[in-house]
Amino acid sequence: MGSGKARATDSSKTKYLKGTRKTDTELKPEIAAPSQSHCESPDKEREQNLRQIESDLNKREVGLIEREIKSLRLQEELDRLRPLSGLYRVVRAMATERRLDSLLEVITRETQMMLKCDRCSVWVLDAVSGDLWTQVAQGLVGHHTIQIPMNGKGTASECARSKSVINIPDAYADPRFDSEVDKHTGYHTKTILCVPMLDRSGSIIGVFQVLNKVGGPFTSEDEDWLQGLAAVSAGLIEQAQAYIEIERFAEKTLETLAQTIDKRDPLTAGHSMRVTKYSLLIGQTMAVHENDLDVLRYSALLHDYGKIGVPENILWKPGRLDPDEYEKVKKHASYTYELLINLPFTKRLAAVPYVASCHHEKIDGSGYYRGLKGDEIPFLARVIAVADVFDALTSVRHYRNRMPIEKVSEIMLSGRDNHFEAACVDIFYQLPSSNILRIMESERGQNIPSEIDVFQDVSWRRLIELLCGSHPKRGEDGLKETFERIYNAGLPADYKPLD
Ligand SMILES: [Fe+2]
Repeated sequence: MGSGKARATDSSKTKYLKGTRKTDTELKPEIAAPSQSHCESPDKEREQNLRQIESDLNKREVGLIEREIKSLRLQEELDRLRPLSGLYRVVRAMATERRLDSLLEVITRETQMMLKCDRCSVWVLDAVSGDLWTQVAQGLVGHHTIQIPMNGKGTASECARSKSVINIPDAYADPRFDSEVDKHTGYHTKTILCVPMLDRSGSIIGVFQVLNKVGGPFTSEDEDWLQGLAAVSAGLIEQAQAYIEIERFAEKTLETLAQTIDKRDPLTAGHSMRVTKYSLLIGQTMAVHENDLDVLRYSALLHDYGKIGVPENILWKPGRLDPDEYEKVKKHASYTYELLINLPFTKRLAAVPYVASCHHEKIDGSGYYRGLKGDEIPFLARVIAVADVFDALTSVRHYRNRMPIEKVSEIMLSGRDNHFEAACVDIFYQLPSSNILRIMESERGQNIPSEIDVFQDVSWRRLIELLCGSHPKRGEDGLKETFERIYNAGLPADYKPLD
């Protein structure tokens, strides 16, 4: 009976004794070996041995079951803590990451883990068009964004309109689900949880949607978690949108300030903008850091702002200035600094007043108004100096027309290492002539000659060589004539170039 019971429990024990249970062959010696300390019959002794073995096995089985229960409890505990650890990572990302796209990517990734779902997407409302755009959409390989009208079909639109949570356990059985999106993406939606994202005033700014929960529909606990994460995301989106608006306002204000100077004198109109474009071409080619490019942009735009303090009769005087007048004009560099330093530039753009006011400094120290030398001059100001002089020489002025390009080039090249930073001039000469010509010709209005495209693969250096008599190579025939036609177009018949 005892051995029969032992056999009956063997199969149920197997799953708990994987790798630990002894085989019958291994057990045989224990069963066969009689105890030497007792003088009982072999059958009784054998039965006792079997009971002992059964008891040992039962103890081991209980131990294994206990361990399994403990492991299951640990798993439950881990499941319970998973959302909290995800939330911790979201908070940590918020403390270290500033870019909205990266932050939302962290949030969607963690949401996917926390809610055990297959896909997450964040839809942001474009207040102007009334459309919802996917700011982040997991799994959209080859699709950058999806755009849907807020008054259209689908759960995201419905959620945005109703500002209420939508939890759908069976997508294809629910009329609110628009299967067209699946057709477009090739995905098969089963379950959906969609919660609205509201700004501080309670207006809708987007929706947060998760799809296909693993192991069943989304629960009310999932709804609570997603609403919390949607509120965090809404705050970040609102903050980022406000920052973009402030940046746009600041940018337009600075551009308008620069235009006030150009507007004073129609003959210098566009100078600030062209200097900015030349400066950025040089800066980008020299791999100037993105943040510094913004400093370069605003410094170049506002470099002549101090001219607002120079009397118009001097600024507009035809011909050469007398020494006293020239001193008055030179003051515009210090005025630029004094005026711009009063503007509350952000920390990122704090260098703008100083850089802008250094555009007349020269490498050999003979410039103004601080008389800085070499590396004392901010690098970005050295870039602007090249752009400023080049534009001044190649623009029509009220007292002269465009200077002959050979003469312009002579001035630029002879200024290497005394007026200009040589590297900046050299980079300028490496630029495609078409890029330079496009900026130069913007002086004449919006009609940029299409024939400028023929200079796309011709560096400024090569073009100057051709203009100075170098023999044209294959494909360069006619470039000299085309350039001269563009450069000298529209000049008055009585135009006499400066010597
Ligand atoms: Fe200037």
